[in-house]
Amino acid sequence: MNQLATHPAARFSGTYTPPGDKSISHRLVMLGALAEGESRFTNFLQAEDCRRTIEAFRKMGVCFEPSKDKLTVKGIGLNGLSKPAGELDLGNSGTTMRLLLGILAGQSFEVRLSGDASLCRRPMRRVTAPLRKMGARITGREDANFAPLVVRGGGLSGIEWVNEMASAQVKSAILLAGLFADGKTSVSETIPSRDHTERLFRAFGVSVRQAEGLTVVEKAKQLHATQFQVPGDFSSAAFLMVAALLIPNSELEIRNVGLNPTRIGLYHVLKSMGADIRMELADEHIEPVGHVYVKSSRLKGIQIDQTMIPSLIDELPILMIACALAEGVSTIRGAQELRIKETDRIHSMALGLREIGAKAEEREDGCVIEGIQQFKGGMVNSFGDHRTAMSFLVAGLCSKTGVTVQDADCIQTSYPDFSSDLEKLVQG
Ligand code: S3P
Repeated sequence: MNQLATHPAARFSGTYTPPGDKSISHRLVMLGALAEGESRFTNFLQAEDCRRTIEAFRKMGVCFEPSKDKLTVKGIGLNGLSKPAGELDLGNSGTTMRLLLGILAGQSFEVRLSGDASLCRRPMRRVTAPLRKMGARITGREDANFAPLVVRGGGLSGIEWVNEMASAQVKSAILLAGLFADGKTSVSETIPSRDHTERLFRAFGVSVRQAEGLTVVEKAKQLHATQFQVPGDFSSAAFLMVAALLIPNSELEIRNVGLNPTRIGLYHVLKSMGADIRMELADEHIEPVGHVYVKSSRLKGIQIDQTMIPSLIDELPILMIACALAEGVSTIRGAQELRIKETDRIHSMALGLREIGAKAEEREDGCVIEGIQQFKGGMVNSFGDHRTAMSFLVAGLCSKTGVTVQDADCIQTSYPDFSSDLEKLVQG
């Protein structure tokens, strides 16, 4: 398995445009496939996870024309999907599996869904329970909690669901199934999760009502093909944002990055840690997009609680790197969801931080990190998790001797150009 290393950097400066947003790219494939007519997307994320989504729909009869960062989808309508020849292998992609379950709940054919060892360990009952309640028949290990899963949908009725874990994947799966269900389907949440599905529904002509934490859709007649430029992925940009803050004498301009309020918790947290960071909104059509300006800063420790978690869930690994070099003690709580991501990120991050000389202690729902001046460096394991791998490669830039990350191929799932983007900005 491939390993990657980074070395101490003197500066990290320049202008950078992040790759397309992964959450949005997945949803565009799905909605484009269900629409009538041809949809065209630019800045589409060509990474392994999104390729899995494309491949799944290809096997169900949808034609795609990918070229570099463009994607054309020849939509076949809400009822046009056909039974695939074999099982659908979704690789490492949790978003593909959970959202696809919602769409398959509306189809009358039977499909078997599988994935790699990590995906087969991730809990699915959070999605299969509401979909079964809507009328889908889903079987799998431990009462449909783990893939491989077999789905036979059709004949759905709307439900009212309380999204207790503030998961956008759960909300999206239910709303997607709602497009095929009789009556109204609603999802309520007390802490808002990312709202890309709702925004993109509107872009494809589906009406969505949202008020006071409640989202309601009704059975759809038709989705209209559309064109869309995918905003840069804030979660991918986060690694370079933190690199610029931690490496002295750095100045970074991040262009055309998604600034959806449900995704930018890290920006607000970094600001309250004392970061010299500012954003400028450039466009608000469908998804807010803009630029972020970052300068090296001396950070202070922070207390993160449960209410802040959904808006920075994927950024917690790189935030832990920032906390490890901040002045004082940082505490992250209410983040037990991190234990069931591509790997257990509380464990992978706390262990890796200690390997490179930092002070981090695991808690059941988060961790406590005491800031130090500089990482010593060393060898860490990604445990096959792309965000753990990229976080430690950033840590290597701020270390005395460099950091080597074992099992770094996983970066392909979300950010294939990560190393070359990093190299372009590293000086010294
Ligand atoms: C995602 C939602 C989040 C996030 C994941 C992508 C999405 O997961 O961690 O990387 O695209 O809806 P949860 O819904 O499990 O919080």
